[in-house]
Amino acid sequence: MAARLTLEDVNLHFAGIQVLQEVAFTAEPGQILGLVGPNGAGKTSLFNCISGHYRPSAGSIMIDGAEVGGSRPATLAKRGLARTFQHPALQLHETVLENVLLGAHTRLPGGAAEWSLRLPRTSRSERALREEALALLERNGLGWAADLQADELSHGLHKGIELCRALLMRPRLLLLDEPAAGLPHSEVEQLIATVRRLRDEDDMTVVVVEHNMGLIAAVTDRVVVLDHGRKLMEGTAAEAQSDPRVIEAYIGKDVTDDAA
Ligand SMILES: Nc1ncnc2c1ncn2[C@@H]1O[C@H](COP(=O)(O)OP(=O)(O)OP(=O)(O)O)[C@@H](O)[C@H]1O
Ligand SMILES: [Mg+2]
Repeated sequence: MAARLTLEDVNLHFAGIQVLQEVAFTAEPGQILGLVGPNGAGKTSLFNCISGHYRPSAGSIMIDGAEVGGSRPATLAKRGLARTFQHPALQLHETVLENVLLGAHTRLPGGAAEWSLRLPRTSRSERALREEALALLERNGLGWAADLQADELSHGLHKGIELCRALLMRPRLLLLDEPAAGLPHSEVEQLIATVRRLRDEDDMTVVVVEHNMGLIAAVTDRVVVLDHGRKLMEGTAAEAQSDPRVIEAYIGKDVTDDAA
């Protein structure tokens, strides 16, 4: 069952730098929520708070009504959360298939002590996971690369490997940080179809951070706009794109960038 993600007044600061201020929104079960905003707005930091990589300074993060703020990533994985990273962190000297299998051990029966005994039921589950990983690679157009070493593939394909790794955890809540970055136009179209399929066939809630407004407009049910760590507005993608405050936030950023 797809998860409900609720954020209430999430704050994050590092040594006096306020990164997030009173961020609040809900991603309803089965929704695709877009999280957009200029560079440095705090999107990745917010993902890090949700996935347990950062501990929020204040506020509440709930999955299906249960507080998870400050939980460790492994605990959150057990609650059905998976994510991809803006900068994929792959084991470059391992094969694509081994990379997809990273993290999926949470789905094996028993615990670490039992896995080391190599019981028949562990081996059976490992074989089943391997087959599922291969099927996911096939479904995402990467079956041909399964046995290649990850460093033989482009950055764009690394994003696809990460997506397969996250999906192998069978998440109920999936966070995607800039999945289209570095992809050629034709592959963005494919990604749009993939993300829609996740919602429509795999019963999952998806939060997607993306600068590609074409993708945001094509897949999201709602959009939250962040600027300087605060929620600027929330609405449909069309409402966000025509909102003067949002346009101002992006233009202001461009001017600053040009002056830098
Ligand atoms: N660990 C940290 N220590 C100090 N400052 C941090 C840390 N992590 C993030 N920040 C700061 O938080 C702010 C928001 O950064 P963040 O990466 O979350 O933005 P973003 O919206 O994801 O930007 P982009 O679109 O460029 O990826 C930045 O000013 C960044 O320097
Ligand atoms: Mg980011």
